Amino acid sequence: MKRVLSGIQPSGELHLGNYFGMMSRMIKYQEENELFCFIVNYHAMTSIQDKERLAKNTLNAAMDFIALGLDPDRSTFWIQSDVPQVCESTWLLSNIVNVGVLERATSYKDKLAKGLTANVGLYSYPILMASDILLFGGEIVPVGNDQKQHLEMTRDIAIRFNQTFGEVFIVPEPDIEKTTQLVPGIDGQKMSKSYGNTIPIFGLEKNIRKQFMSIVTDSKGINEPKDTNTPLFQLYSLFLDESGQKELKDRFASPGLSYGNLKIELFECFWNRFEPFRQKRDYLASHKDFVLQKLKEGAEKSSTVADRFLNKAREAMGLNYGEVNV
Ligand code: ADP
Ligand code: TRP
Repeated sequence: MKRVLSGIQPSGELHLGNYFGMMSRMIKYQEENELFCFIVNYHAMTSIQDKERLAKNTLNAAMDFIALGLDPDRSTFWIQSDVPQVCESTWLLSNIVNVGVLERATSYKDKLAKGLTANVGLYSYPILMASDILLFGGEIVPVGNDQKQHLEMTRDIAIRFNQTFGEVFIVPEPDIEKTTQLVPGIDGQKMSKSYGNTIPIFGLEKNIRKQFMSIVTDSKGINEPKDTNTPLFQLYSLFLDESGQKELKDRFASPGLSYGNLKIELFECFWNRFEPFRQKRDYLASHKDFVLQKLKEGAEKSSTVADRFLNKAREAMGLNYGEVNV
């Protein structure tokens, strides 16, 4: 039994990229592993400076995850800021990370390129993420491909710490799945909250339907064979098993396929798949106290693990000065 751990930012409405790239895989893992899962609201602070929005997004993300099947009794599920020990360990780890490493982080460079102000939080984001993983002894970390570099940095930090101060941290393994590592958005780029190209998991039917109908397609006529290396094909494939995917491929190669009809069909498929989750989501929205209670229990459970690792790290770095002979 391995400890599987991952987190998600409450920086906006959760979408199909989050679902297939990370959430559904985490939910599956919980059947046979020890799952640690959290909503990273400290990370979201690097881009959100509006207290209402941050607080609302945080609770909504937690409700979304539980509605989709994360079982807070079976797994350890919490809000990052309820276990503030991660901030202390971020400081400890900061002392073994060279600034050059942070300057080369692609997610940081991308955000700068998009004109975001580079606050120190955004800059040291990867150290907070390493702290999230190492402080809870995460062994397997399911993520999408965009997090690969952050995971490599985390591994380097763990190895370096252990070499410098003695064995304290577990070196985690990234878990990236080929078919879901990069879910395209409706414009064909990576689906991302920050690109405005998402299909939300929950929301109003007419808004979501509109997003499906806006998936970009080419100008091929109805009887021409169609390209499968396209967002419409890739998004549809996520809802199909192997034989369904083969069938879809055949339909793309045959005359008579209308993009418009296919989008309607895909929307129906999505809508039906998520129907039970929507019901659960509505239930949770009207039982906020239940959700808060589960999050509190999750924070208590994970706090115990964090304290253990943090204490070892403090000891290893020389902060437990009372134990030394003078
Ligand atoms: P976003 O890019 O929308 O802000 P996050 O950074 O919060 O999403 O990502 C949360 C998790 O979902 C991460 O593990 C990330 O790799 C995964 N993820 C996000 N977008 C996609 C995508 N388009 N395809 C696959 N995985 C994704
Ligand atoms: N940086 C991740 C993202 O944007 C979120 C994250 C924070 C995370 N801490 C983590 C993911 C720890 C996995 C493990 O998606």
